[in-house]
Amino acid sequence: MQSQIFVNATQVVTCAGPARARRGTEMSKLETIPGAAVVVTGEEIAAVGPESELRRDFPDAVEIDCHRGVLTPGLVDSHTHAIFGRARADEQEMRARGMDYMQIAARGGGIHASVRDLRSRSEDELTELARRRLQRLASYGITTVEVKSGYGLTLEDELKTLRVIARLARDLPMRIVPTFLGAHEIPLEHRSSAAARQEYIDRLVHEMIPLVAKEGLARFADVFCETGVYTVPESRRILLAAREHDLLLKLHADELTSCGGAELAAELGATSADHLGAVSEAGIRALANAPTVATLLPGTMLFLGKQTRAPARQLIEAGVPVALATDFNPGTSPTPNFPLILTLGVSQLHLTVGEAILAATVNGAAAVGLAGTVGQLMKGFSADLALFEIDDVGELPYWYGDRRCLGSWVRGKSCHPSHLQLS
Ligand code: NIG
Ligand code: FE
Repeated sequence: MQSQIFVNATQVVTCAGPARARRGTEMSKLETIPGAAVVVTGEEIAAVGPESELRRDFPDAVEIDCHRGVLTPGLVDSHTHAIFGRARADEQEMRARGMDYMQIAARGGGIHASVRDLRSRSEDELTELARRRLQRLASYGITTVEVKSGYGLTLEDELKTLRVIARLARDLPMRIVPTFLGAHEIPLEHRSSAAARQEYIDRLVHEMIPLVAKEGLARFADVFCETGVYTVPESRRILLAAREHDLLLKLHADELTSCGGAELAAELGATSADHLGAVSEAGIRALANAPTVATLLPGTMLFLGKQTRAPARQLIEAGVPVALATDFNPGTSPTPNFPLILTLGVSQLHLTVGEAILAATVNGAAAVGLAGTVGQLMKGFSADLALFEIDDVGELPYWYGDRRCLGSWVRGKSCHPSHLQLS
């Protein structure tokens, strides 16, 4: 089998350690090896070590010159809503004039605006829009991306969205993890009465989840559990139905208000609880005793102009594994720039650089159930790598807003094409 050897890197960030979410002080142990080389054989990493040794052991390997850049595991973006139609730039001015996210939603904007728009578009059109957007994400070093449905909110439109995700998973080199988020909102046509609302939830439980699972269109199910959206008991019912159909669980938890989302995610042993901008002390304690990864999305808080921050330090100190993600979506976080999210992780959430990097690799992988496959540059892991034009990993969150990614590889094949790749 053909091997490739990545040579001439200033530093290789391996993130080596246990193949599971890192907690507490484990999160500050980031392994970096100056001047190391990485050998990829087929789709896997075969060796990481001194260049001279690896050149000797793999004399026939095709050489890839890293031009003194820094090699990291490909970034794992574990929370996006990348399938949508038009941009919602209009809402940012409404917010600037003082209206908040929930007020915009109450007027039929926000998620509802994207729902109207997505329903009017064909699968082909949505595929082409999303393809370009995912390629933008890839150009910042993301090699694994979780993508949610949730702007369809009918059986047909949710299936259409999930088919777009499946098509892109086949077409693009990126590793794509599909999530069913039929419970992103209560659709406007189900808001006239309590019975109408109940009818949509019944449909989620009895029709949509079983079909999505049967067709193998999602690995995860997610719910927007929030005051004014889905209540804790409703979210529990939906997620329990999803679990019965062998879907793994995620939850939009305590994004804007402290409503018991984190506690619910912990109770159900969800793979991740996401946002947590308003998580309570009890929520933090519950997560500390659960297998759940806390996925923090500081880009969302920045873009919505919120002054509050998810209590990242408290979560880490309580022993909760923390991941970072972009939350790429048209309403609250329209950025494909994951390194910028790392900047916010350090400057706004007070993570150390090492913690931020592990949050975007190993813990991101754990948040999509892939900690045994991606997130580390170690023998046996998938050859998912990103190369950055920097001298030290500390510069990844430092040159904020810049795009330093020179190239990336998934399963040993070029993902974001690098002009440096010789093969
Ligand atoms: O993660 N909070 C719910 N969902 C998205 C926003 C979706 C939208 O506004 O379109 C989020 O922030
Ligand atoms: Fe989200």
